[in-house]
This record gives sequence, C-alpha cells and structure tokens, in this order.
Amino acid sequence: METSASLVAHPDNAIVWHDDNLFLLDQRALPAETRFLLCASAAETARAIKDMVVRGAPAIGVTAAYGVVLSARDHFQQEPTNWRAGVDQDLELLAAARPTAINLFWALERMRRRLAVLDQLDPVPALLTEAQRIHRDDVAANQRMGELGAALIETPTDVITHCNAGALATGGYGTALGVVRSAHAAGKIGRVYADETRPWLQGSRLTAWELQQSDIPVTVQADNVAASLMARGGIGWVIVGSDRIAANGDVCNKIGTYMLAVLARHHGVRFMVAAPTSTIDLKVGQGADIPIEERGADEVLSCGGNRVGPDAVEAHNPVFDVTPAELVDVIVTERGVIEQPDADKIGALMAEV
Ligand code: MRU
Repeated sequence: METSASLVAHPDNAIVWHDDNLFLLDQRALPAETRFLLCASAAETARAIKDMVVRGAPAIGVTAAYGVVLSARDHFQQEPTNWRAGVDQDLELLAAARPTAINLFWALERMRRRLAVLDQLDPVPALLTEAQRIHRDDVAANQRMGELGAALIETPTDVITHCNAGALATGGYGTALGVVRSAHAAGKIGRVYADETRPWLQGSRLTAWELQQSDIPVTVQADNVAASLMARGGIGWVIVGSDRIAANGDVCNKIGTYMLAVLARHHGVRFMVAAPTSTIDLKVGQGADIPIEERGADEVLSCGGNRVGPDAVEAHNPVFDVTPAELVDVIVTERGVIEQPDADKIGALMAEV
C-alpha cells in the first residue's frame, strides 16, 4: 500500500478518508503488520466490517458512514438522475454487516436523514461532510469522556480493561482507553491489565499495541486471571466500553465483560463503562432484548491460525454479553456521568439537548 502522509499507521489514524476513498488500518493484522486496506465501494466497506478489518462499536459506525459516501458516488456516477435506489440497497447491506453495536445503525440513520434533505444534484459533498462530522464528533466525545472518566479516579491505581475500547475501536482517542489515557496523563494510572480477549485477541493484539504507542504501562493477561488479580489487591477500577446500552442501563459489551463485573462487585473493585450517547438505545428496554452476534465455531476452535480443538467438536461463539445495570457503578458519556444507572437516569440524560 502506498505510504502517503495520510496513511500513517497509528491507533488515532485507523479510519482515513484519502484521495476520494476509504482506507482502514487492517486490525486483523495488528500488531505484526501495519497495513491499510482500501475500500472503494459500499460493498467492500460492508465486507471489511463483517470481516473485522475494522471493529469496535463507534468505529464501525464511522466506517459505515463513509461507506454511504462511496455508495452515493458510485450510483450518482452510474445513474445521475436515479441514484437513490442503489444507495438505499447499500444502506441495507451496511446495516447487515454486524448486528449488535447500535452505533452502526445510529450512524446509518444520520446519513439517511442527511440524504432526505439533500438540496444539491450531486449528493457526495453533503454526505462526505456528514460522515466527517460523525467522525469528528466521535473523537470529541471520547476526549470529553476521557476528562469526565479520569476525574472519577480519585487515587492512583492499576486498572483492568477488556477487549479493545481504544482509538482503534472508535473515530480516535478511545472510550475506555480514552479514560485511561486522560487518567494516565493526570498521574492516576499505574498499570493497565489488558485481558487478552479470546478468541479475537483484541486485548493482546490491539489494546496492548495501542497503550504501548501512548507509553502507558500495560500487562496482557489471559481472560481467566482477573479474579486472582483482583483478590491480590491494587486494582481500583475495571474500565470497559460498550456496544449497546439498553434504556434501563444494562450494558452489552465484549463477551467476558459480565464475568468481570461480577468479579469486580465481589472484590469491591469499581466498574466503569465509557460510551458515547450514540451507544445508548432507548428502543431496547433491557439488555436481554439486544441481539447478540454469534460468529463461527472455527474462531474458538483455533488460536493464532492453528486448530486447537478436535475434529467435529461443537463450539459456541457468542461475541457479546450483557452486564445488568446493578453491577455497573458508573456510565461515562460525553453528556455527563451516570452513577448506578437506571431507566430514569438514562432517560433524563438522553432528554438533554
Ligand atoms: O467484536 P468487536 O471487536 O467489535 O467488539 C468490540 C467491543 O466489544 C468493544 O469493547 C466495544 O465496541 C466498545 S468500543 C469503544
């Protein structure tokens, strides 16, 4: 891939609009290889989301928004007077890429609303502006959450995080890792323990790489280490992101998050969720109603490309779980902080303009 100044591999530069195309830092290859993948159409963008080239709730929303720009460009070129039907089909294709993170549907809805009020013949400039605004707003939200979340950490401590809720999972800066970055800058983080996060290893491959880029001390651990680490003492907080938060405050996030929340409560460790309001889905009353993506058994039965399970064995691979609101100490959003979340507090936050 070409090495333009725009295509410098860095966690904060993982989704790049460059030269009228979309470039994604290929998260399947990190950290061994830093390469960008070119997405030249909505179909290629949907495929990249499905195949985990880009992952993380806000990041797939931002990516899908750029996918709509590519769609409009192609269909407008092909049929300048009748391009909308093709774009509508691509909106469906992008929405079908992954089912759980609400940010994907939220971003597509914003693009749909922009499409509805277009006042120019060529739809591309207005849609590109909207996609770039979604991208920029996400970074700003993360920076604000970083400040708010860091302020909650009273004394310097070690923390545990799960999966990757960093710059790579967002438009930039990160949600949970944004809080870690801000708190580290304020001298409040000793070390981050990053769960490796089987089977995709987002923790060991992505979170560890990201934190190294920011010179934040990080230790990777197998997912089953957290209980004994908490029992040993020294962990003040678990800090995670979210793919969808229900109206009652239940938090859907990477499989294994629920386990951490139970452990945290048992050990007196505080549990923080950092997520922009684009992650809150008021249409879903409770976590049990959130669709949980199931991926192939092969992801569980292999590790690092090598088969580790016997032939013909069954495996199940739900990739998210739901942490009940009562196990969440605090949800940090760009609009403010909710302690002990419940339906009333979530409703009040979302009613603010
Ligand atoms: O399957 P993934 O890698 O897309 O899952 C990502 C997560 O679960 C993240 O924790 C979540 O999206 C929060 S991202 C800021």
